[in-house]
Amino acid sequence: MIWLYDDYAALSDAAAGIFVQQARQAAQVKGWFSVVLAGGHTPQRTYQLLAQPRHRDRISWGQIHIFWGDERCVPPDDPRNNARMARQALLAQVPIPPSQIHPIPCSRSPQVAAEQYEEVLQAFFGDQPPRFDLVFLGLGENGHTASLFPGTPVLEERERWVAAVHVAEQDMDRVTLTAPLINQAAVVAFLVSGASKAAVLREVLEGPSDPNRLPAQLIQPAGGELHWLLDREAASLLTRKA
Ligand code: 6PG
Repeated sequence: MIWLYDDYAALSDAAAGIFVQQARQAAQVKGWFSVVLAGGHTPQRTYQLLAQPRHRDRISWGQIHIFWGDERCVPPDDPRNNARMARQALLAQVPIPPSQIHPIPCSRSPQVAAEQYEEVLQAFFGDQPPRFDLVFLGLGENGHTASLFPGTPVLEERERWVAAVHVAEQDMDRVTLTAPLINQAAVVAFLVSGASKAAVLREVLEGPSDPNRLPAQLIQPAGGELHWLLDREAASLLTRKA
């Protein structure tokens, strides 16, 4: 489902609304809510809005478990660290038990970090299917999402839930959830803003299937909902807008 918003602020407010709605529903039905946060810049405003009383006070933070879709293997205080961004924008402002915040610690070996994070997820889900209630994702200008980068071996992964990725063009190691894991989620919401994403968004949504070049096309939640939250600039090249 494509949702079109006038601008980044409106898109961010809608994304915050989805978080609140899904969190309240899951907490009421199951007693807890598992959400996967995206990194990069786009979701930052959404996280800041969730820390504002009008959203924050509608969420039972004691029932929330926070995970990440990917992490850059840089020191925790590095401005590029995804967990650092989310802590500053949201997590330091809300009463969520620290034990319910599950960052991907990968400032050492990406492979070890991936194995350890998979153990964290297996411990969390236990004998239940690994079905996150909500996954936020962004879209890179080269068609990547999370750290599923074009042409990387992780795109072929069918078993593992978490994998290490070396992103040659950034000379950076990363750890990412795999497409098979993301695709088990109940709700996946891409947040895509700005003219710089218009061309790749049209290719991902309207172009031929080419997931090795456009990994975001791998995200097709089997038993879940897929939402694309777009602002007008990002959607400007789409022929089908809603
Ligand atoms: C990351 C993100 C990545 C991001 C896209 C879009 O760690 O880099 O998980 O997948 O969502 O690169 O990033 P922007 O929102 O900054 O454009």
